[in-house]
Amino acid sequence: MNANELPVVTRANPHYERLGGHAAVVALVEAFYRAMDTRADARTIRAMHEHDLAATKRVLVSYLTEWLGGPKDYSVQRGAPKLRRRHAPFAIDASARDAWMACMTQALEDTCGDAALRTELLAAFAKVAEAVRNLPSH
Ligand code: HEM
Repeated sequence: MNANELPVVTRANPHYERLGGHAAVVALVEAFYRAMDTRADARTIRAMHEHDLAATKRVLVSYLTEWLGGPKDYSVQRGAPKLRRRHAPFAIDASARDAWMACMTQALEDTCGDAALRTELLAAFAKVAEAVRNLPSH
């Protein structure tokens, strides 16, 4: 491997690079929690989170970095994601899932100018959000 082969690294983590790397993931997470803090439809899920979101933001940046194909910081620090198990303490029904998706949709619209990438990422987020739902709809 020599310096001329750097583009190979880019192809190895296409979503992370397409989004814009670390700064873009930080901006996305900031916009996500800003949406959660301000949207009326997100009040219930905001109340599940800590008042001070600083630590939560750092963990989500780390998780999304790895999930998007970037550096594997999350699993080094926190082990296997096991998101279903980590969300088990929270009551996540369809409306909680939809509120999470509404925040992420807004965050992507606020920070990602690539409409095709937004669509791809939202489809992938929707699968994870459905996977962590642990209550039926009502
Ligand atoms: C479907 C609705 C969802 C709800 C209501 C929800 C709620 C929560 C809550 C309350 C926490 C704890 C945060 C804290 O301690 O301050 C958490 C942690 C977390 N959530 Fe979610 N979440 C949802 C979906 C998702 C999705 C779709 C993802 C990923 C794509 C995700 C990724 C994470 C991660 C990485 C953590 C931290 C896990 C750890 O401790 O290592 N969540 N979530």
